[in-house]
Amino acid sequence: MDRSSRLSGFYQYSPEERLRIVAEWADLTEDEVATLRQGLSVAQGDKMIENVVATHGLPLGIAVNFLINGRDYLIPMAIEEPSVVAGASYAARLARAGGGFWTESTEPEMIGQIQVLGLDDLHAARERLLAARQRLLALANEQDPVIVRLGGGARELEVRLLDDTPAGPMLILHLIYDCRDAMGANTVNTACEALAPLVEEISGGRVRLRILSNLADRRLARARTVIPVEALARPEDGFSGEDVAQGIVEAWAFAAADPYRAATHNKGIMNGVDAVVMATGNDWRAVEAGAHAYAARSGRYTSLTRWGRDAEGNLVGSIELPLAVGIVGGATRVHPTAKLALKILGVKSARELAEVIAAAGLAQNLAALRALAAEGIQRGHMRLHARQVAIAAGASGELVERVAARLVAEGQVRLDRAAEIVAELASGE
Ligand code: MEV
Repeated sequence: MDRSSRLSGFYQYSPEERLRIVAEWADLTEDEVATLRQGLSVAQGDKMIENVVATHGLPLGIAVNFLINGRDYLIPMAIEEPSVVAGASYAARLARAGGGFWTESTEPEMIGQIQVLGLDDLHAARERLLAARQRLLALANEQDPVIVRLGGGARELEVRLLDDTPAGPMLILHLIYDCRDAMGANTVNTACEALAPLVEEISGGRVRLRILSNLADRRLARARTVIPVEALARPEDGFSGEDVAQGIVEAWAFAAADPYRAATHNKGIMNGVDAVVMATGNDWRAVEAGAHAYAARSGRYTSLTRWGRDAEGNLVGSIELPLAVGIVGGATRVHPTAKLALKILGVKSARELAEVIAAAGLAQNLAALRALAAEGIQRGHMRLHARQVAIAAGASGELVERVAARLVAEGQVRLDRAAEIVAELASGE
């Protein structure tokens, strides 16, 4: 089978037909296909969290057209919001015109924080802790021999002095820990807790918190795309490629300069990021916290992406954000859909997953800025929203598209009108 992710007209198939295409693409067995159809069972959910009474489903869509570092990907996205999967697929098609996305990432290093209080001389305590570096790192590495054997483990210590906090001066010890293919929260927290008594002994202070930081700014993923201006043209809406490219750069400049706009701009990026993070069973709150803290790292909250033009006039976009995600541990291997989402993606490491997610975030931003800078966001939204309204009004099967089309044509995407149309079409058949 041709392994291109450029699946033209994928959206026109039924869910079952799409599932068959994806199954063939990703070599899923019949059992795996059945598992995808079924999703998480109550018994499985009961092993994940407390007081379970049911499971809560979300649609799992597949973003198509992604070409990343020369390789084709189908990207599973779990999300309740219409337009996100369609937007990502459309933007990936635009990016394809220039060769797709190019990505890179840092080593998967997380930061664990140990808070030390009650010190008379912060500077002297710092010197003593740094002098004991080898001992502390060795103790941290004793906690998880498996990750050390896999090439991860404690890498470095850093000391930060907070001279003036509401609770007085404090010393913060950062344990830099390479988590390899795990998200790493448990490993890092365990290591921090294990180090605490020795940190107290060496520093002469009192340890309070021992917990990882979600500002994972040593675990960054980057993606970049270069799009020929002609690919951006929308003659049907009266926009030349030049207009659209210029519009995207101006829209980005707004977010770069204004936190009110940057919050919405980054929310659009996180539509793409979170949907993949959720599909793969990763901790989207951790990723959200990291992304927004990183966006504010200069002291002023700003855009996670950049858009500009290169010397040939092509539109050039890039993103950089912390992405603490794993492909082992947590729900990634326990949640049946997450496990299969990883198989569909075909990623071989946490870094590769983070890079794919960065590309999805950049694509989502491109889709949003393109629409906002040209015809506006509502038209596409309304088309998709109309389908949901049609279903809510009782339409099913091919009636859904017919009712939705009427709602859009009439410019009234409302439940009461949808119910009238459903009744009219149903009685006419
Ligand atoms: C909506 O979920 C996301 C957008 O608001 C993002 C943006 O404004 O860039 C469309």
